[in-house]
Amino acid sequence: MIRTRYYLLSIIVLLAYAFYTMPHFGAHQLEVQGSSNEKILLTGGAGFIGSHVAEALLDRGDRVIIVDNLSDYYDPELKRRNLENIAHQDKNHHVCFYRTDITDLESLRAIFENEQPTIVCHLAACAGISPSIKDPELYIKNNILGTFNLLEMTRTFGIKHFVFASSSSVYGASNKIPFEECDIVDKPCSPYAATKRACELLAYTYHHLYRFSCNGLRFFTVYGPRGRPDMAPFKFMDAIYKGVPINQHGDGSSMRDYTYIDDIVDGVVKAIDHRFSFEIFNLGRGEPVSLKDFVKLIEMVVHKDAHIIEIENQAGDVYATHASINKAKVMLGFEPKISLYEGIKCMYQWYANEYICGKK
Ligand SMILES: NC(=O)c1ccc[n+]([C@@H]2O[C@H](COP(=O)([O-])OP(=O)(O)OC[C@H]3O[C@@H](n4cnc5c(N)ncnc54)[C@H](O)[C@@H]3O)[C@@H](O)[C@H]2O)c1
Repeated sequence: MIRTRYYLLSIIVLLAYAFYTMPHFGAHQLEVQGSSNEKILLTGGAGFIGSHVAEALLDRGDRVIIVDNLSDYYDPELKRRNLENIAHQDKNHHVCFYRTDITDLESLRAIFENEQPTIVCHLAACAGISPSIKDPELYIKNNILGTFNLLEMTRTFGIKHFVFASSSSVYGASNKIPFEECDIVDKPCSPYAATKRACELLAYTYHHLYRFSCNGLRFFTVYGPRGRPDMAPFKFMDAIYKGVPINQHGDGSSMRDYTYIDDIVDGVVKAIDHRFSFEIFNLGRGEPVSLKDFVKLIEMVVHKDAHIIEIENQAGDVYATHASINKAKVMLGFEPKISLYEGIKCMYQWYANEYICGKK
């Protein structure tokens, strides 16, 4: 009897210890939903990440309203194809698409009035570091004014939950590794990064004033099927396959925390399902690799050698990104599953289907 009590007491002490030593992020969770059956207004749903998120939401029975202007930042034909893929998968007719610019507040108002969404997942943005240096005004308009319009509609229509895409670029050239959500981020290195940080601040203000819950997601270099053609993973794979030289910025020692698209989608869906008051989460893999090693992995998967031409570093680029994902693990249950090697293999399978067999 005494021994049983002793064991019980030990277990209670151990559990209490485990609870108090696990990382605490101090947020009061409002609600967790499984398969949500929500009506989600998804901006940027024709793009790389957005089209995968749309499919995941439709798969589990949500209704999805895609708002995207099919911008010509890269070939809009790729976005049309993404929409076709989504429509093909949408057996229940749960998706609709509005070709609308998020900077156009009155058109957005009409969509909100018509559709009465319950959640907003805002992924639309002008992405890319270098182009933002060439045309900062475009980024300020699309990203900051666009986000402001979405927040205004969220307030006006009493939407309960707002999820939005931010970026690892908000950490700037910080050499405090890994990047944590509590780090001070006040030195963005490009107009793109500055707009993403501005959107985080604006979202906080709207949450504070109008009390809807809000999750901001800092994505770390996302790659995989339908990957953006302006990003290194696609550019390198394409160049290595075609045997054309790769312009490599720097000596290849720069580090990136590459994250496979399925892991990112899982994080976005979890952020849709978990309502706190206001939180920012890193969504990365937490295991950065050097550009040199990244290229080696692609060579291995494609079975061809890269022809590297070393050129100077790009203005606005940072040397390293490295996500701490403890907070997302603990609060969202986020757990990246795809190794870089597996992810590159899956991306190459897609590339081969689309660009080698399909000869696009
Ligand atoms: N891909 C990454 O590695 C990465 C990393 C960090 C952050 N992000 C962020 O994630 C989000 C999605 O990025 P992505 O890689 O899928 O990019 P993407 O360019 O493929 O998708 C963005 C979509 O937004 C749409 N869009 C742009 N401006 C618009 C406007 N004014 N009105 C309506 N639609 C508009 C585009 O047409 C596009 O379909 C963006 O907010 C981006 O800043 C991406």
